[in-house]
Amino acid sequence: MGTNTELPPHVLIFPLPMQGHINSMLKLAELFCLSNLHVTMLLSEYTHGRLRRHANIESRFSRYPGFRVATIPDGLPEDHPRVGERTMEIVMSLLKVGGAEFRKLMETTDALSDGGARRRVTCLIMDGVLSFAVPVAEEMGIPFIYFRTVGACSFWANFCFKDVIEAGEAPLKGKDEGKHEYWKKEELDLMVTSVPGMEGYLRRRDLPAFCRVNDVNDPGFQTIIRETRRTALSRGLILNSFEDLEGPILDQIRKPIPNLYSIGPLHTHLKARLESQKSEESSLPSSSFYEEDRSSMSWLDSQPPKSVLYVSFGSVTLLTRDELLEFWYGLVNSGHKFLWVMRPDSIVGDNKDNPIPAELEEATKERGYLVGWVPQNEVLAHPSVGAFFTHSGWNSTLEGIAAVMPMICWPYFADQTINSRFVSEVWKVGLDMKDSCDRVIVEKTVRDIMEVRRDEFLERALHMAELAKKSISEGGTSYTNLNRLIEFIRSSV
Ligand code: UDX
Repeated sequence: MGTNTELPPHVLIFPLPMQGHINSMLKLAELFCLSNLHVTMLLSEYTHGRLRRHANIESRFSRYPGFRVATIPDGLPEDHPRVGERTMEIVMSLLKVGGAEFRKLMETTDALSDGGARRRVTCLIMDGVLSFAVPVAEEMGIPFIYFRTVGACSFWANFCFKDVIEAGEAPLKGKDEGKHEYWKKEELDLMVTSVPGMEGYLRRRDLPAFCRVNDVNDPGFQTIIRETRRTALSRGLILNSFEDLEGPILDQIRKPIPNLYSIGPLHTHLKARLESQKSEESSLPSSSFYEEDRSSMSWLDSQPPKSVLYVSFGSVTLLTRDELLEFWYGLVNSGHKFLWVMRPDSIVGDNKDNPIPAELEEATKERGYLVGWVPQNEVLAHPSVGAFFTHSGWNSTLEGIAAVMPMICWPYFADQTINSRFVSEVWKVGLDMKDSCDRVIVEKTVRDIMEVRRDEFLERALHMAELAKKSISEGGTSYTNLNRLIEFIRSSV
Protein backbone atom coordinates (compact mmCIF):
# COMPACT_ATOMS: atom_id res chain seq x y z
CA MET A 1 0.00 0.00 0.00
CA GLY A 2 1.45 3.42 -0.96
CA THR A 3 2.10 6.08 1.68
CA ASN A 4 0.91 9.63 1.37
CA THR A 5 4.02 11.62 2.31
CA GLU A 6 1.84 14.56 3.39
CA LEU A 7 0.56 12.51 6.32
CA PRO A 8 2.06 13.08 9.79
CA PRO A 9 4.32 10.52 11.46
CA HIS A 10 2.48 7.69 13.17
CA VAL A 11 3.56 6.61 16.65
CA LEU A 12 2.52 3.33 18.22
CA ILE A 13 2.50 3.53 22.03
CA PHE A 14 2.54 0.21 23.82
CA PRO A 15 2.21 0.35 27.62
CA LEU A 16 2.38 -2.62 29.95
CA PRO A 17 -1.33 -3.15 30.64
CA MET A 18 -1.38 -1.80 34.19
CA GLN A 19 -2.96 1.34 35.63
CA GLY A 20 0.23 3.23 36.50
CA HIS A 21 1.83 2.52 33.13
CA ILE A 22 -1.24 3.48 31.13
CA ASN A 23 -1.71 6.70 33.13
CA SER A 24 1.61 8.15 32.08
CA MET A 25 1.67 6.74 28.55
CA LEU A 26 -1.81 8.00 27.75
CA LYS A 27 -0.67 11.49 28.70
CA LEU A 28 2.25 11.15 26.32
CA ALA A 29 -0.23 10.05 23.63
CA GLU A 30 -2.26 13.22 24.13
CA LEU A 31 0.86 15.39 24.06
CA PHE A 32 1.71 13.84 20.69
CA CYS A 33 -1.84 14.42 19.43
CA LEU A 34 -1.51 18.10 20.42
CA SER A 35 1.59 18.22 18.22
CA ASN A 36 -0.46 16.79 15.33
CA LEU A 37 1.19 13.38 15.30
CA HIS A 38 -0.92 10.34 14.59
CA VAL A 39 -1.05 7.91 17.49
CA THR A 40 -2.15 4.33 18.05
CA MET A 41 -2.49 3.31 21.68
CA LEU A 42 -1.97 -0.45 21.94
CA LEU A 43 -3.87 -1.85 24.93
CA SER A 44 -4.64 -5.31 26.18
CA GLU A 45 -8.23 -6.34 25.58
CA TYR A 46 -8.73 -6.51 29.35
CA THR A 47 -7.50 -2.97 30.07
CA HIS A 48 -9.34 -1.59 27.08
CA GLY A 49 -12.55 -2.98 28.60
CA ARG A 50 -11.81 -1.31 31.95
CA LEU A 51 -10.94 2.01 30.31
CA ARG A 52 -14.12 1.95 28.23
CA ARG A 53 -16.24 1.25 31.28
CA HIS A 54 -14.67 3.79 33.61
CA ALA A 55 -12.70 6.37 31.63
CA ASN A 56 -14.35 6.68 28.23
CA ILE A 57 -11.05 7.28 26.46
CA GLU A 58 -12.44 7.04 22.93
CA SER A 59 -14.71 10.00 23.62
CA ARG A 60 -11.85 12.05 25.11
CA PHE A 61 -9.65 11.41 22.07
CA SER A 62 -12.38 11.71 19.42
CA ARG A 63 -11.26 15.30 18.70
CA TYR A 64 -7.85 14.08 17.54
CA PRO A 65 -8.43 12.71 14.03
CA GLY A 66 -5.23 10.61 13.98
CA PHE A 67 -5.83 8.81 17.31
CA ARG A 68 -6.86 5.15 17.44
CA VAL A 69 -6.89 2.35 19.96
CA ALA A 70 -5.77 -1.15 18.99
CA THR A 71 -5.87 -4.22 21.21
CA ILE A 72 -4.19 -7.57 21.72
CA PRO A 73 -4.92 -10.25 24.35
CA ASP A 74 -2.59 -10.45 27.38
CA GLY A 75 -2.91 -14.24 27.53
CA LEU A 76 -4.47 -14.28 31.01
CA PRO A 77 -8.01 -15.40 31.84
CA GLU A 78 -10.53 -12.56 32.26
CA ASP A 79 -10.91 -13.31 35.99
CA HIS A 80 -7.16 -13.19 36.78
CA PRO A 81 -6.78 -10.75 39.70
CA ARG A 82 -3.95 -8.68 38.08
CA VAL A 83 -3.07 -7.13 41.48
CA GLY A 84 -0.45 -7.64 44.19
CA GLU A 85 2.53 -9.88 43.52
CA ARG A 86 0.53 -11.55 40.74
CA THR A 87 1.00 -8.50 38.49
CA MET A 88 4.30 -10.08 37.46
CA GLU A 89 2.19 -12.76 35.76
CA ILE A 90 0.97 -10.08 33.34
CA VAL A 91 4.57 -9.46 32.25
CA MET A 92 5.39 -13.17 32.02
CA SER A 93 2.23 -13.95 30.07
CA LEU A 94 2.80 -11.11 27.63
CA LEU A 95 6.39 -12.20 27.11
CA LYS A 96 4.97 -15.57 26.10
CA VAL A 97 2.07 -14.57 23.83
CA GLY A 98 2.77 -10.90 23.04
CA GLY A 99 5.34 -11.35 20.26
CA ALA A 100 3.02 -13.45 18.07
CA GLU A 101 -0.01 -11.28 18.82
CA PHE A 102 1.89 -8.09 18.03
CA ARG A 103 3.18 -9.54 14.76
CA LYS A 104 -0.31 -10.66 13.75
CA LEU A 105 -1.74 -7.22 14.49
CA MET A 106 0.93 -5.37 12.54
CA GLU A 107 0.75 -7.73 9.56
CA THR A 108 -3.01 -7.99 9.23
CA THR A 109 -3.56 -4.23 9.47
CA ASP A 110 -0.65 -3.18 7.24
CA ALA A 111 1.03 -1.69 10.30
CA LEU A 112 -2.16 0.03 11.43
CA SER A 113 -2.33 2.30 8.41
CA ASP A 114 -6.12 2.43 8.37
CA GLY A 115 -6.42 1.70 4.69
CA GLY A 116 -4.04 4.55 3.83
CA ALA A 117 -5.68 7.21 6.03
CA ARG A 118 -2.54 7.16 8.16
CA ARG A 119 1.04 6.20 7.51
CA ARG A 120 2.11 2.72 8.53
CA VAL A 121 3.61 2.98 12.05
CA THR A 122 6.75 5.11 11.81
CA CYS A 123 7.94 4.91 15.41
CA LEU A 124 7.31 2.47 18.25
CA ILE A 125 7.35 3.63 21.85
CA MET A 126 7.10 0.65 24.13
CA ASP A 127 7.14 0.03 27.82
CA GLY A 128 10.54 -1.05 29.06
CA VAL A 129 9.63 -4.68 29.68
CA LEU A 130 8.00 -5.44 26.34
CA SER A 131 11.06 -6.23 24.26
CA PHE A 132 9.20 -9.02 22.41
CA ALA A 133 7.97 -6.26 20.09
CA VAL A 134 11.54 -5.48 18.98
CA PRO A 135 12.03 -8.22 16.33
CA VAL A 136 8.81 -7.16 14.60
CA ALA A 137 9.87 -3.50 14.68
CA GLU A 138 13.31 -4.39 13.34
CA GLU A 139 11.93 -6.52 10.51
CA MET A 140 9.58 -3.73 9.51
CA GLY A 141 12.32 -1.11 9.82
CA ILE A 142 10.47 0.82 12.53
CA PRO A 143 12.72 2.73 14.97
CA PHE A 144 11.84 2.03 18.59
CA ILE A 145 12.23 3.96 21.80
CA TYR A 146 11.68 2.65 25.30
CA PHE A 147 9.56 4.38 27.91
CA ARG A 148 10.11 3.30 31.50
CA THR A 149 7.26 4.55 33.66
CA VAL A 150 9.32 4.27 36.85
CA GLY A 151 11.66 6.97 38.16
CA ALA A 152 15.27 7.31 37.03
CA CYS A 153 16.33 6.14 40.51
CA SER A 154 14.59 2.81 40.20
CA PHE A 155 15.50 2.34 36.54
CA TRP A 156 19.16 2.93 37.31
CA ALA A 157 19.20 0.57 40.28
CA ASN A 158 17.57 -2.09 38.07
CA PHE A 159 20.15 -1.41 35.38
CA CYS A 160 22.91 -2.04 37.93
CA PHE A 161 21.36 -5.24 39.35
CA LYS A 162 24.10 -7.39 37.82
CA ASP A 163 26.77 -5.41 39.66
CA VAL A 164 24.69 -5.41 42.81
CA ILE A 165 24.52 -9.21 42.66
CA GLU A 166 28.23 -9.55 41.88
CA ALA A 167 29.05 -7.33 44.85
CA GLY A 168 26.98 -9.70 47.03
CA GLU A 169 24.59 -6.89 47.96
CA ALA A 170 21.54 -8.73 46.58
CA PRO A 171 19.60 -10.90 46.71
CA LEU A 172 19.19 -10.29 50.38
CA LYS A 173 19.74 -13.57 52.14
CA GLY A 174 17.86 -14.77 55.15
CA LYS A 175 14.71 -16.41 56.30
CA ASP A 176 11.48 -15.42 54.66
CA GLU A 177 9.35 -14.84 57.72
CA GLY A 178 6.51 -12.96 56.10
CA LYS A 179 6.04 -10.05 53.76
CA HIS A 180 7.83 -7.28 55.66
CA GLU A 181 10.28 -9.23 57.75
CA TYR A 182 12.28 -11.14 55.20
CA TRP A 183 15.76 -10.47 56.46
CA LYS A 184 17.79 -9.56 59.48
CA LYS A 185 17.70 -5.88 60.30
CA GLU A 186 21.49 -5.51 60.37
CA GLU A 187 21.69 -6.81 56.81
CA LEU A 188 18.93 -4.61 55.48
CA ASP A 189 20.52 -1.46 56.91
CA LEU A 190 23.91 -1.97 55.22
CA MET A 191 24.75 0.63 52.58
CA VAL A 192 24.77 -0.37 48.91
CA THR A 193 28.03 0.51 47.15
CA SER A 194 27.45 -0.88 43.67
CA VAL A 195 24.91 1.60 42.28
CA PRO A 196 26.98 4.57 41.09
CA GLY A 197 25.54 7.89 42.19
CA MET A 198 23.61 6.49 45.15
CA GLU A 199 26.46 5.81 47.53
CA GLY A 200 25.86 7.19 50.97
CA TYR A 201 22.10 6.97 51.17
CA LEU A 202 20.93 3.78 49.45
CA ARG A 203 20.53 0.92 51.91
CA ARG A 204 19.89 -2.69 50.96
CA ARG A 205 16.36 -2.35 52.30
CA ASP A 206 15.73 0.42 49.73
CA LEU A 207 16.72 -1.65 46.72
CA PRO A 208 13.85 -2.33 44.33
CA ALA A 209 11.79 -5.08 45.85
CA PHE A 210 12.96 -7.68 43.34
CA CYS A 211 16.22 -7.85 45.25
CA ARG A 212 14.22 -9.50 48.00
CA VAL A 213 14.11 -12.86 46.27
CA ASN A 214 16.46 -15.43 47.63
CA ASP A 215 17.13 -17.03 44.28
CA VAL A 216 19.05 -15.07 41.63
CA ASN A 217 17.52 -17.38 39.06
CA ASP A 218 13.99 -16.36 39.97
CA PRO A 219 12.30 -15.84 36.56
CA GLY A 220 10.82 -12.47 37.56
CA PHE A 221 14.16 -11.19 38.84
CA GLN A 222 15.95 -12.38 35.71
CA THR A 223 13.30 -10.85 33.45
CA ILE A 224 13.68 -7.43 35.05
CA ILE A 225 17.49 -7.59 34.74
CA ARG A 226 17.36 -8.70 31.12
CA GLU A 227 14.66 -6.31 29.96
CA THR A 228 16.27 -3.33 31.67
CA ARG A 229 19.66 -4.02 30.09
CA ARG A 230 18.02 -4.24 26.66
CA THR A 231 16.98 -0.63 26.94
CA ALA A 232 20.47 0.33 25.87
CA LEU A 233 19.80 -1.19 22.41
CA SER A 234 17.03 1.28 21.58
CA ARG A 235 17.18 4.66 19.85
CA GLY A 236 16.40 6.41 23.12
CA LEU A 237 14.79 6.24 26.53
CA ILE A 238 11.87 8.31 27.78
CA LEU A 239 11.47 8.87 31.51
CA ASN A 240 8.62 10.57 33.33
CA SER A 241 11.02 12.63 35.41
CA PHE A 242 12.81 15.98 35.30
CA GLU A 243 16.39 17.13 35.54
CA ASP A 244 16.03 19.15 38.75
CA LEU A 245 14.53 16.11 40.47
CA GLU A 246 16.88 13.33 39.41
CA GLY A 247 19.70 15.12 37.52
CA PRO A 248 22.67 13.21 38.99
CA ILE A 249 20.99 9.85 38.35
CA LEU A 250 19.91 10.85 34.85
CA ASP A 251 23.56 11.69 34.18
CA GLN A 252 24.55 8.19 35.27
CA ILE A 253 21.97 6.69 32.88
CA ARG A 254 23.29 8.84 30.03
CA LYS A 255 26.59 6.92 30.14
CA PRO A 256 25.11 3.69 28.66
CA ILE A 257 22.04 5.40 27.13
CA PRO A 258 23.06 8.83 25.83
CA ASN A 259 19.76 9.64 24.15
CA LEU A 260 17.59 10.30 27.16
CA TYR A 261 14.31 12.20 27.16
CA SER A 262 13.28 13.29 30.66
CA ILE A 263 9.90 14.91 29.98
CA GLY A 264 8.01 14.84 33.26
CA PRO A 265 5.98 15.34 35.25
CA LEU A 266 3.76 14.28 32.37
CA HIS A 267 0.47 15.14 34.06
CA THR A 268 1.39 18.80 34.60
CA HIS A 269 3.22 18.91 31.29
CA LEU A 270 0.06 17.89 29.47
CA LYS A 271 -2.08 20.32 31.46
CA ALA A 272 0.27 23.21 30.68
CA ARG A 273 0.27 22.45 26.94
CA LEU A 274 -3.51 22.07 26.83
CA GLU A 275 -3.81 25.47 28.51
CA SER A 276 -1.24 27.14 26.28
CA GLN A 277 -3.04 25.86 23.17
CA LYS A 278 -6.31 27.09 24.68
CA SER A 279 -7.72 23.64 24.08
CA GLU A 280 -11.45 23.38 24.74
CA GLU A 281 -10.56 20.56 27.16
CA SER A 282 -7.94 21.58 29.72
CA SER A 283 -8.67 18.94 32.39
CA LEU A 284 -6.52 15.82 32.47
CA PRO A 285 -7.92 12.76 30.71
CA SER A 286 -9.22 10.10 33.07
CA SER A 287 -7.62 6.71 32.60
CA SER A 288 -9.13 5.06 35.66
CA PHE A 289 -9.71 1.32 35.78
CA TYR A 290 -12.26 1.91 38.56
CA GLU A 291 -15.33 4.10 38.91
CA GLU A 292 -14.29 7.47 40.39
CA ASP A 293 -16.32 8.31 43.48
CA ARG A 294 -16.97 12.04 43.30
CA SER A 295 -18.64 12.19 46.71
CA SER A 296 -15.08 12.41 48.06
CA MET A 297 -14.87 15.92 46.56
CA SER A 298 -18.05 17.08 48.34
CA TRP A 299 -16.73 15.62 51.59
CA LEU A 300 -13.46 17.54 51.11
CA ASP A 301 -15.45 20.73 50.40
CA SER A 302 -16.83 20.55 53.94
CA GLN A 303 -13.39 20.27 55.63
CA PRO A 304 -11.11 23.09 56.84
CA PRO A 305 -8.07 24.06 54.73
CA LYS A 306 -5.11 21.66 54.84
CA SER A 307 -6.78 19.54 57.52
CA VAL A 308 -7.11 16.22 55.64
CA LEU A 309 -4.57 13.46 55.14
CA TYR A 310 -5.20 11.78 51.78
CA VAL A 311 -4.44 8.04 51.98
CA SER A 312 -4.03 5.87 48.89
CA PHE A 313 -1.89 2.85 48.16
CA GLY A 314 -2.34 2.91 44.40
CA SER A 315 -3.71 0.47 41.90
CA VAL A 316 -2.18 -2.90 42.80
CA THR A 317 -1.27 -2.91 46.53
CA LEU A 318 -2.89 -5.59 48.67
CA LEU A 319 -3.32 -5.23 52.44
CA THR A 320 -3.76 -8.09 54.86
CA ARG A 321 -6.49 -7.62 57.41
CA ASP A 322 -3.85 -7.14 60.11
CA GLU A 323 -2.19 -4.38 58.10
CA LEU A 324 -5.56 -2.80 57.43
CA LEU A 325 -6.33 -2.64 61.15
CA GLU A 326 -2.88 -1.25 62.06
CA PHE A 327 -3.29 1.57 59.52
CA TRP A 328 -6.86 2.21 60.56
CA TYR A 329 -6.10 2.44 64.29
CA GLY A 330 -3.05 4.60 63.59
CA LEU A 331 -5.07 7.02 61.49
CA VAL A 332 -7.95 7.24 63.95
CA ASN A 333 -5.65 7.59 66.96
CA SER A 334 -3.73 10.44 65.30
CA GLY A 335 -6.86 12.57 65.68
CA HIS A 336 -6.51 13.93 62.14
CA LYS A 337 -9.10 13.87 59.36
CA PHE A 338 -8.44 11.38 56.57
CA LEU A 339 -9.77 10.49 53.14
CA TRP A 340 -8.81 6.88 52.46
CA VAL A 341 -9.01 5.10 49.11
CA MET A 342 -9.77 1.46 49.81
CA ARG A 343 -9.91 -0.19 46.41
CA PRO A 344 -12.63 -2.87 46.30
CA ASP A 345 -10.05 -5.57 45.47
CA SER A 346 -7.32 -4.44 47.87
CA ILE A 347 -8.02 -6.31 51.11
CA VAL A 348 -6.92 -9.92 51.52
CA GLY A 349 -8.81 -12.20 53.89
CA ASP A 350 -12.28 -12.49 55.22
CA ASN A 351 -14.03 -9.90 57.33
CA LYS A 352 -15.53 -12.73 59.40
CA ASP A 353 -12.11 -13.88 60.64
CA ASN A 354 -10.95 -10.43 61.60
CA PRO A 355 -13.91 -8.02 61.66
CA ILE A 356 -13.52 -4.24 61.80
CA PRO A 357 -14.16 -3.22 65.45
CA ALA A 358 -17.22 -1.02 65.93
CA GLU A 359 -15.08 1.64 67.67
CA LEU A 360 -13.10 2.13 64.45
CA GLU A 361 -16.24 2.50 62.36
CA GLU A 362 -17.60 5.02 64.88
CA ALA A 363 -14.41 7.11 64.96
CA THR A 364 -14.28 7.07 61.16
CA LYS A 365 -17.77 8.58 60.93
CA GLU A 366 -16.39 11.54 62.85
CA ARG A 367 -13.16 12.20 61.02
CA GLY A 368 -12.67 9.84 58.12
CA TYR A 369 -14.11 9.16 54.69
CA LEU A 370 -13.57 5.86 52.88
CA VAL A 371 -13.99 5.49 49.13
CA GLY A 372 -13.21 2.88 46.48
CA TRP A 373 -11.40 5.17 43.99
CA VAL A 374 -11.08 8.94 43.55
CA PRO A 375 -9.97 11.40 40.88
CA GLN A 376 -6.55 11.57 42.58
CA ASN A 377 -5.19 14.69 40.93
CA GLU A 378 -8.33 16.63 41.82
CA VAL A 379 -8.08 15.39 45.39
CA LEU A 380 -4.43 16.42 45.67
CA ALA A 381 -5.29 19.87 44.32
CA HIS A 382 -8.14 20.35 46.83
CA PRO A 383 -7.42 23.08 49.42
CA SER A 384 -8.55 20.84 52.31
CA VAL A 385 -5.84 18.25 51.66
CA GLY A 386 -2.69 18.83 53.72
CA ALA A 387 -0.57 15.72 53.16
CA PHE A 388 -0.43 12.44 51.26
CA PHE A 389 -0.02 8.95 52.75
CA THR A 390 1.15 6.96 49.71
CA HIS A 391 2.61 3.63 48.61
CA SER A 392 5.17 5.65 46.58
CA GLY A 393 4.19 4.45 43.13
CA TRP A 394 6.01 6.66 40.66
CA ASN A 395 2.91 8.45 39.36
CA SER A 396 1.69 9.14 42.88
CA THR A 397 5.14 10.41 43.88
CA LEU A 398 5.25 12.89 40.99
CA GLU A 399 1.63 13.88 41.54
CA GLY A 400 2.39 14.50 45.24
CA ILE A 401 5.46 16.58 44.39
CA ALA A 402 3.62 18.71 41.83
CA ALA A 403 0.76 19.29 44.30
CA VAL A 404 3.10 20.47 47.12
CA MET A 405 2.29 17.51 49.35
CA PRO A 406 4.40 16.43 52.31
CA MET A 407 4.30 12.64 52.07
CA ILE A 408 4.26 9.58 54.29
CA CYS A 409 5.56 6.62 52.31
CA TRP A 410 4.63 3.00 52.85
CA PRO A 411 6.10 1.24 49.81
CA TYR A 412 4.50 -2.05 48.94
CA PHE A 413 6.78 -3.50 46.24
CA ALA A 414 8.64 -3.03 42.92
CA ASP A 415 10.13 0.44 42.42
CA GLN A 416 8.29 1.87 45.42
CA THR A 417 10.98 0.96 47.98
CA ILE A 418 13.53 3.15 46.25
CA ASN A 419 11.11 6.00 45.47
CA SER A 420 10.30 6.33 49.15
CA ARG A 421 14.00 6.54 50.03
CA PHE A 422 14.40 9.43 47.58
CA VAL A 423 11.32 11.17 49.02
CA SER A 424 12.74 11.04 52.54
CA GLU A 425 16.52 11.25 52.10
CA VAL A 426 17.16 13.04 48.82
CA TRP A 427 14.25 15.42 48.26
CA LYS A 428 13.33 15.52 51.96
CA VAL A 429 9.63 16.04 51.33
CA GLY A 430 8.38 13.31 53.61
CA LEU A 431 8.92 10.31 55.84
CA ASP A 432 9.59 6.73 54.83
CA MET A 433 7.76 4.09 56.86
CA LYS A 434 8.96 1.09 54.86
CA ASP A 435 9.02 -2.34 56.47
CA SER A 436 6.87 -1.29 59.40
CA CYS A 437 3.16 -1.47 59.83
CA ASP A 438 2.32 -0.74 63.42
CA ARG A 439 -0.49 1.47 64.72
CA VAL A 440 1.80 3.37 67.12
CA ILE A 441 4.26 4.21 64.32
CA VAL A 442 1.43 5.16 61.98
CA GLU A 443 -0.07 7.50 64.59
CA LYS A 444 3.28 9.17 65.31
CA THR A 445 4.19 9.52 61.63
CA VAL A 446 0.81 11.10 60.85
CA ARG A 447 1.29 13.60 63.68
CA ASP A 448 4.81 14.37 62.47
CA ILE A 449 3.68 15.08 58.94
CA MET A 450 0.46 16.97 59.84
CA GLU A 451 1.78 18.98 62.81
CA VAL A 452 5.23 18.50 64.36
CA ARG A 453 7.43 18.70 61.24
CA ARG A 454 4.87 20.18 58.90
CA ASP A 455 6.61 23.49 58.13
CA GLU A 456 9.92 21.82 57.37
CA PHE A 457 8.37 19.44 54.83
CA LEU A 458 6.11 22.08 53.37
CA GLU A 459 9.02 24.38 52.63
CA ARG A 460 10.86 21.60 50.78
CA ALA A 461 7.67 20.53 48.98
CA LEU A 462 7.10 24.09 47.76
CA HIS A 463 10.64 24.22 46.43
CA MET A 464 10.32 20.89 44.60
CA ALA A 465 6.94 21.87 43.11
CA GLU A 466 8.46 25.10 41.78
CA LEU A 467 11.25 23.12 40.12
CA ALA A 468 8.68 20.77 38.59
CA LYS A 469 6.77 23.74 37.21
CA LYS A 470 9.92 25.31 35.79
CA SER A 471 10.83 22.08 33.98
CA ILE A 472 7.60 21.96 31.95
CA SER A 473 7.40 25.70 31.25
CA GLU A 474 8.64 27.08 27.93
CA GLY A 475 12.43 26.71 27.82
CA GLY A 476 12.46 24.27 30.77
CA THR A 477 14.30 20.95 30.48
CA SER A 478 11.24 18.71 30.14
CA TYR A 479 9.64 21.14 27.70
CA THR A 480 12.77 21.17 25.55
CA ASN A 481 13.22 17.40 25.76
CA LEU A 482 9.65 16.75 24.64
CA ASN A 483 10.19 18.99 21.61
CA ARG A 484 13.42 17.13 20.88
CA LEU A 485 11.55 13.81 21.07
CA ILE A 486 8.86 15.07 18.68
CA GLU A 487 11.59 16.24 16.32
CA PHE A 488 13.19 12.80 16.43
CA ILE A 489 9.84 11.22 15.54
CA ARG A 490 9.30 13.67 12.68
CA SER A 491 12.79 13.09 11.36
CA SER A 492 12.52 9.31 11.33
CA VAL A 493 9.61 8.86 8.89
C1 UDX B 1 2.99 0.65 40.25
C2 UDX B 1 4.41 1.25 40.46
O1 UDX B 1 4.82 1.38 41.72
C3 UDX B 1 4.69 2.38 39.56
O2 UDX B 1 5.81 3.14 39.92
C4 UDX B 1 4.86 1.71 38.27
O3 UDX B 1 5.29 2.58 37.26
C5 UDX B 1 3.52 1.06 37.93
O4 UDX B 1 3.10 0.13 38.93
P1 UDX B 1 0.64 1.90 40.94
O5 UDX B 1 0.27 1.13 42.14
O6 UDX B 1 -0.32 1.90 39.83
O7 UDX B 1 2.02 1.58 40.27
O8 UDX B 1 0.98 3.38 41.46
P2 UDX B 1 1.19 4.73 40.74
O9 UDX B 1 2.33 4.71 39.80
O10 UDX B 1 1.24 5.74 41.81
O11 UDX B 1 -0.12 4.92 39.88
C6 UDX B 1 -1.40 4.96 40.42
C7 UDX B 1 -2.21 5.92 39.61
O12 UDX B 1 -3.56 5.75 39.94
C8 UDX B 1 -1.86 7.38 39.88
O13 UDX B 1 -1.71 8.06 38.65
C9 UDX B 1 -3.05 7.90 40.64
O14 UDX B 1 -3.37 9.26 40.36
C10 UDX B 1 -4.16 7.01 40.18
N1 UDX B 1 -5.19 6.86 41.22
C11 UDX B 1 -4.93 6.17 42.36
C12 UDX B 1 -6.41 7.43 41.00
O15 UDX B 1 -6.64 8.08 39.96
N2 UDX B 1 -7.37 7.28 41.95
C13 UDX B 1 -7.17 6.59 43.09
O16 UDX B 1 -8.10 6.50 43.90
C14 UDX B 1 -5.89 6.02 43.31
